[in-house]
Amino acid sequence: MTSAEERPEAEAPDASGWSEDTSRHFIDYGAYFVPERETQIDTICSVVPPAPEGALIVEICCGEGLLCEALARRFPGAEIHALDGSETMLAAAKTRLEALGASHRTAVIDIAEAGWRAFERPVHAFVSSLAVHHLDGPAKARLFKDLAAALAPGGVVVICDLVEARREAGLALWRRHWDDGVRERSLELDGNEEMLEFFREDGWNYYADPDGDPVDMPSPLLDQLLWMADAGLSSIDVHWLRAGHAIFSGVKP
Ligand SMILES: C[S@@+](CC[C@H](N)C(=O)[O-])C[C@H]1O[C@@H](n2cnc3c(N)ncnc32)[C@H](O)[C@@H]1O
Repeated sequence: MTSAEERPEAEAPDASGWSEDTSRHFIDYGAYFVPERETQIDTICSVVPPAPEGALIVEICCGEGLLCEALARRFPGAEIHALDGSETMLAAAKTRLEALGASHRTAVIDIAEAGWRAFERPVHAFVSSLAVHHLDGPAKARLFKDLAAALAPGGVVVICDLVEARREAGLALWRRHWDDGVRERSLELDGNEEMLEFFREDGWNYYADPDGDPVDMPSPLLDQLLWMADAGLSSIDVHWLRAGHAIFSGVKP
């Protein structure tokens, strides 16, 4: 891990608000800044139904591939499609899936576009972690409808993402809880709080400045559950939440 003095200046993001430099930044610091990352990954995998041989599991905005690697380990007969807008992220995900010998494909997508949402066969599970907040509310509702339409009966959509706090008290709580999580991780991994200081300086905590970056558009959790219901999903549940990071899912009847 580099010290604060050695860290390079971040390049400006591209039109979509995310750059390859942002990808490298996320890969470097995700272990510190994503609250209870292992629990998040285990929770998402645990609510995907057992996958029959050849079942299609699609990860939207797979990042460096930690979740699709866990899914491939848990469901070795499944075919994993790892989708992302960043070549840096897709290369890392591909390396992980190849190392496992998992049946997989990777593809560049823009999550906001609809073109990638058609599949050769019904999908067993769509999962996405920390990415749907790059869409505004109506675009999230549209995404959930398109994913529900592409699912096989009994298939799931599992979303892990930042959600919007409805009240100042809730915002302040999640801001503190996220700082607490980074402090815990910083102490656990490095034995000091340097990464918490960097987390704050870097403006990473959305709940400290919710209007700070227009690329971040979390929606309230209740709205997202209702959009899942409007999309025709049922058995909608919230499985886990910490520091504004929620995991929720719905099943295609
Ligand atoms: C916060 S990272 C999360 C990565 C990974 N899912 C995880 O949980 O570790 C957001 C991811 O979304 C991708 N991304 C951002 N904007 C995107 C867009 N418009 N279309 C597709 N991918 C995008 C980034 O490349 C990055 O991999």
